[in-house]
Amino acid sequence: MNIIDIEHIAKIYQVGTEEVHALQDVSLRIDKNEYVAIMGPSGSGKSTLMNMLGCLDTPTSGKYLFKSENVSQMSDNDLATIRNREIGFVFQTFNLLPRSDALHNVELPLIYAGMSYLDRKERAEQALADVGLSDRMHHKPNELSGGQRQRVAIARALVTKPSIILADEPTGNLDSKTGEEIMQLFHEIHAKGNTIILVTHEEYIAEHALRIIRLKDGLIENDEVVSKRYTPNGNIAAE
Ligand SMILES: Nc1ncnc2c1ncn2[C@@H]1O[C@H](COP(=O)(O)OP(=O)(O)O)[C@@H](O)[C@H]1O
Ligand SMILES: [Mg+2]
Repeated sequence: MNIIDIEHIAKIYQVGTEEVHALQDVSLRIDKNEYVAIMGPSGSGKSTLMNMLGCLDTPTSGKYLFKSENVSQMSDNDLATIRNREIGFVFQTFNLLPRSDALHNVELPLIYAGMSYLDRKERAEQALADVGLSDRMHHKPNELSGGQRQRVAIARALVTKPSIILADEPTGNLDSKTGEEIMQLFHEIHAKGNTIILVTHEEYIAEHALRIIRLKDGLIENDEVVSKRYTPNGNIAAE
């Protein structure tokens, strides 16, 4: 099933009298359970595309269908509803509430969704267990390591059972060993049937994905299935 269907989208930013063509003409389909990395040099349009995919912004022209629903001209309110229900975000800087413990951080999207106290507690505890943090539920972000903080953020992204996980440089603030552990966690999440879209400028991070889309000057330069890929235990396997 197609989750994302983008047809000829462009995004133009008006800066004074100058027009910046951040995305020129991008068409793209992403199916359920794909694992896609979006790569490209600085200024190529990665963040702009990420904002479109994540329903944080709408294109200047072109069409974006999310699960067959046209989101390209939706109001900010309707976009927010789609985001809360359908998209799990993971950021480079974790973006956790500093005064709340891990459990409350993970519960938060369920509070917004209006879930009852007991249901959301159970769901949040399960999500934290799924990322290996059962013994850290009542730790605040500053009582956790960087890798653990990112695991909390991943649990928060997964707790609503979203249609896609959007991760923007998720290992950017982690040392390489911890980064690898987080990438292994993404493998497990993907193996459970989730759809993952990862933005990175690191080749070795992108190679964890099964498909790499390369942007240049607001256009897709290359879109291909990765032949070399990692197995869930971290070895490289041939296709
Ligand atoms: N809010 C904005 N206003 C004006 N120009 C922008 C804005 N955001 C991005 N741009 C421009 O759009 C182009 C693509 O930017 P971006 O999507 O951030 O690229 P990347 O994430 O690949 O570095 C760049 O030339 C950038 O300067
Ligand atoms: Mg960027």
